[in-house]
Amino acid sequence: MDHTFWLERWQKADIGFHQATAHDLLERHWPSLAVNKGAQIHVPLCGKSLDMVWLAEHGHTIIGTELAAVAVDQFFAERSRTPAAVKSSGFTVKRAGPYEIWCGDHLRLDPEVTRRIGGVFDRAALVAMPRVMQKDYAEKLASLTPTGVPVLLVTLDYDPSEMDGPPFPIPPQRVEELFGHNFRITLLEQRDGLSTSQNLKKRGVSRLNEAAWKLVRR
Ligand SMILES: C[S@@+](CC[C@H](N)C(=O)[O-])C[C@H]1O[C@@H](n2cnc3c(N)ncnc32)[C@H](O)[C@@H]1O
Repeated sequence: MDHTFWLERWQKADIGFHQATAHDLLERHWPSLAVNKGAQIHVPLCGKSLDMVWLAEHGHTIIGTELAAVAVDQFFAERSRTPAAVKSSGFTVKRAGPYEIWCGDHLRLDPEVTRRIGGVFDRAALVAMPRVMQKDYAEKLASLTPTGVPVLLVTLDYDPSEMDGPPFPIPPQRVEELFGHNFRITLLEQRDGLSTSQNLKKRGVSRLNEAAWKLVRR
């Protein structure tokens, strides 16, 4: 997906991926990662997701990355917060309260930014990447995640002949291929995802496997 695709989606408010609440798999599985209260959490490709709010309400500070300035501005406006903004290494960094969002290309983020994180939450970030970009994304995630730090990853899998992504299908063996050399991988849950995704049902998907994974950086 090129940048224009996402910027236009935000411009047109075509954001069917955005959820009105925090993701239930985050709520259910975050405790099993045993991340210290107060730890900084990295939320790649964060959009304006309520997952960041849930994490902040659970004592964390947030480092998000997001391409679309519209998304970042809406996130702060919807929280009635006026962020301070600075430019750093090609990003515009907006900060207010527990939130710090780096607006720019995630794949260019300097690992120095996430050096002190205690956890990562990836929902609709890996699956937003077309297959040709997934390896770069996975390697970048590894470079941004210090040893011992856990990632909660949510994936979707469906028959690719039924729909063009995004979201793109990530079967279990693909998780192993992308992350196995850098992370210890545990499958936390697999379930039918169609009951909670009317959007993908409408787009023609007849079977959707949603999975939550714990990845711990080696
Ligand atoms: C499918 S949305 C998911 C957003 C969020 N994680 C959520 O659950 O609502 C993918 C997001 O990634 C952003 N994005 C895509 N490519 C990016 C990149 N290279 N760097 C930073 N953000 C990017 C898009 O603008 C979009 O907001």
